[in-house]
Amino acid sequence: MPETLTPLIPELEIRWRTSQMTHRIVRDYKDQAVIVVIVLKGAFIFAADLTRRLAEQGLRLRLDFLRAASYGDSDLSSGKVSLQLDVSLPLVNQKVLLIDDIIDTGLTLSFLAQHLKRKGATEVKTCVLLDKPARRLIDFKPDYIGFSIPDVFVVGYGLDFAEEHRCLSGLAILHKEQNPCHQSQSMSK
Ligand code: PRP
Repeated sequence: MPETLTPLIPELEIRWRTSQMTHRIVRDYKDQAVIVVIVLKGAFIFAADLTRRLAEQGLRLRLDFLRAASYGDSDLSSGKVSLQLDVSLPLVNQKVLLIDDIIDTGLTLSFLAQHLKRKGATEVKTCVLLDKPARRLIDFKPDYIGFSIPDVFVVGYGLDFAEEHRCLSGLAILHKEQNPCHQSQSMSK
């Protein structure tokens, strides 16, 4: 099936926005230690860039990772999210910053934030590079948002379609023939 890519957000703009987000996060946490939890796989590039900047700015952080999967048909979420990989650090009495690449329906971040609170975190803030508000199924607003985007299928900078395109330096819109192109990031699951 032929695919075309249209540039959406170039690498330099992501870098600039990440820098702005860094300043806000550092200001909010001040001297408090934080456990950064990164949602695999899509957030790996954004989180790598953001966490290095946070550390450069003096934020004391420890990293952990988790992975979620949602089940449903190929394009609409059934609302069921499950954990495929859990964090390994103890979270009791810890402040957590949860980083994902994109919020779409909101089900994944909402589920993961509740999960981390159940593990004893005193606070879970959420940070995403991309917000697709048109796709939201529940009322959930991340604490830190890089860019708000329309309902288009985005790849690059960690985001994939069928595990491809994650390593593009910037973000692009993927157009596929015979495909309604709703992203559901679940298309790639
Ligand atoms: C994407 C994205 C989020 C989730 C957002 O992950 O990274 O975790 O979907 O969707 P939601 O707001 O509708 O719940 P995906 O399942 O595509 O996995 P990946 O990160 O491994 O590519």
